[in-house]
Amino acid sequence: MSVKTADIVDSVRAMTWTGKSLRLLDQRYLPAEEKYVDLHTAVGVAEAVRNMVVRGAPAIGVTAAYGVVLAAKKAYQQDRYRWRELVETDLVILAAARPTAVNLAWALARMRDRFRFVEEDPVPVLLNEAAAIHREDIDANHRMGELGAAIIADCLNVLTHCNTGSLATGGYGTALGVIRTAFARGTLVSVFVNETRPWLQGSRLTAWECRQEQIPVTVIADSAAGALMQQGKVDAVVVGADRIAANGDVANKIGTYSLAVAARHHGLKFIVVAPCSTIDRETSCGGDIPIEDRGGGEITEFAGQNIAPAGLAAWNPVFDITPASLVDVLVTEKGVIDQPDSCKIEALFSQ
Ligand code: MRU
Repeated sequence: MSVKTADIVDSVRAMTWTGKSLRLLDQRYLPAEEKYVDLHTAVGVAEAVRNMVVRGAPAIGVTAAYGVVLAAKKAYQQDRYRWRELVETDLVILAAARPTAVNLAWALARMRDRFRFVEEDPVPVLLNEAAAIHREDIDANHRMGELGAAIIADCLNVLTHCNTGSLATGGYGTALGVIRTAFARGTLVSVFVNETRPWLQGSRLTAWECRQEQIPVTVIADSAAGALMQQGKVDAVVVGADRIAANGDVANKIGTYSLAVAARHHGLKFIVVAPCSTIDRETSCGGDIPIEDRGGGEITEFAGQNIAPAGLAAWNPVFDITPASLVDVLVTEKGVIDQPDSCKIEALFSQ
């Protein structure tokens, strides 16, 4: 069936600009409640990113871009001659919100480039730029949906991890976007999703999005992924990325590396789907990517209850590195790379 990805309508948006504020769907309450927060300051935006109101690398980038609009608005109101200097304080706060997703730094750099030569009120120009970043992210996802769906055209069932859908992006999704397109085309039958400890982005968010899109979805405990592959229940693994180093190493949600190892063992394709804004050509390899540690409490407590002896030591890196050698295919909006490496990634950017 030839379905155009751009015709598949999103039933959810992680962020919207209201005209005065940035409205975020508070993902911490999903799937139980659809609550929204309106943010009027860049500091509020940084806090929302840090506290996981919004998450997912591309969504963090788009959110930060709107955060710069709010920062510039405040700075220009404070001093219309020194606003460029004043805005930097908020940019530093935004940049520090989360360390691994490079889309944050990428979006801030693009916004900073845009206001460098603006002399008048910067808000209209910056709002245009933030909206462009938002729109381009959705367009990139549509393109990756088309490219990725062709790669999994012979897969009936796939496994994914974390949440890479509309909630994690400007709209449509990266890995989940590929899954959506493949399902709409009638090639994909169902998706398995890891619950994704400790934040449960898989069972709370991906399962919720799949339900909205009527994609049959089955949740598994993260530790069931190997058995799922062993029993032949999935034909490929499709995931997103928070940052891809120049050599193709991939930082993504903790557990991704184990999936890549298991996929290679079982002869399953391991596919990474990410826009070029997630590729960090300044970082040579995965070992140089900063990995966020959110503290042991996320593991030893659940919904305010202790689920481990009080004071137990816990290690909670929330991302891991999958070496490029375990990635079979990298799907970007600029094209698809088999067995990514530094040369192929460089060539992608010089097209
Ligand atoms: O901690 P999170 O929920 O922000 O982690 C999100 C992920 O790891 C996603 O896989 C990644 O950001 C890609 S989202 C399109």
